[in-house]
Amino acid sequence: MKIDGKQMRSIWVEGDGASVGIVDQTQLPHRFATARVATLEDTAHAIKAMQVRGAPLIGAAAAYGVWLALRVDTSDEALERAYAKLMGTRPTAINLKWALDEMLAAVCNQPRAERTEAALRRASEIADEDVAINQAIGRHGLKIIEGIAARKKGERVNVLTHCNAGWLATVDWGTATAPIYMAHDKGLSVHVFVDETRPRNQGASLTAWELGHHGVPHTVIPDNMGGHLMQHGVIDMVIVGADRVTAQGDVCNKIGTYLKALAAHDTKVPFYVALPSPTIDFTVNDGLAEIPIEQRAADEVATMTGKTVDGRIETVQIVPDGSPVANYAFDVTPARLVTGLITERGIVAANRAALAQACPERAEVRPKSHRKVN
Ligand code: MRU
Repeated sequence: MKIDGKQMRSIWVEGDGASVGIVDQTQLPHRFATARVATLEDTAHAIKAMQVRGAPLIGAAAAYGVWLALRVDTSDEALERAYAKLMGTRPTAINLKWALDEMLAAVCNQPRAERTEAALRRASEIADEDVAINQAIGRHGLKIIEGIAARKKGERVNVLTHCNAGWLATVDWGTATAPIYMAHDKGLSVHVFVDETRPRNQGASLTAWELGHHGVPHTVIPDNMGGHLMQHGVIDMVIVGADRVTAQGDVCNKIGTYLKALAAHDTKVPFYVALPSPTIDFTVNDGLAEIPIEQRAADEVATMTGKTVDGRIETVQIVPDGSPVANYAFDVTPARLVTGLITERGIVAANRAALAQACPERAEVRPKSHRKVN
């Protein structure tokens, strides 16, 4: 996407050929800053601290992290250490494991002298593939928006989205936002209701920032307003991203997604999930029972950070001293509430047969819950 007229991705190999550049997402929306990641430790920190975030971008960053680790030590032990360290950063988005497995497969059978180059090659491919995948998601999702626009005789199409499944959460284009950007670029009248997405406010801070820079009309709303808008017929469709989709089509995404799906179901608003196929985890079946849900620090709930009237960035506490808080970062939307999965391979129904048909090469893995225990 373009920032101030300059074509950008969310992650890139720096000109020194020895480090990786990222957009430091913890600084947005009030400051656009980039950071340089030069080591395995830097990469793990960037993922953990959410300087880079969003399932596909976490995967791409981890892939480059393996390359950075191998620049220092090409041994099997170093490779295993890098895999374990990066796997330990965040537990829910499956793209992390997918990318690390891809990296392992690309380098482990290479002679040590060729491992670093093979790692850079595969990491760069993963990044490029993500861009191509998101463009394909955009093309498939665009048809849905065009259909709604035609039914509304060109009247504005209102999309609701949750969290940030935009270009900042991927390498470029985003998943949920790709159809929106394409519709807007094509001249369709599209408007986005952006859930602020407490506690980290990825909607208010990141999605609104992205859409604004691309010129897409949008309105930031409190998380609990979506149901009201749906009841009043304001929302034409919901598109969210995903951190993991199970073999039976359950969708794990940012906390609060489930409540939007319930409201959409009740009001008959189509609820779509946009995802690249690496987000599908064919080894798990029942999302509620089997997906590990990240629990994050209490201060994300107990405090808010923002810009003061005189332009300073400050953090303030918003709960009483000593009040305990809970901070589950993701929830699971059962497949029955999902209208369709917008993937690079087309719109896929959220069920086992459709997912297996869409991804036959990966569906051979049997979900753990369906494996026979000896
Ligand atoms: O905790 P985050 O900000 O990494 O969570 C991100 C989300 O939940 C996104 O919706 C999801 O990763 C899809 S990104 C294309």
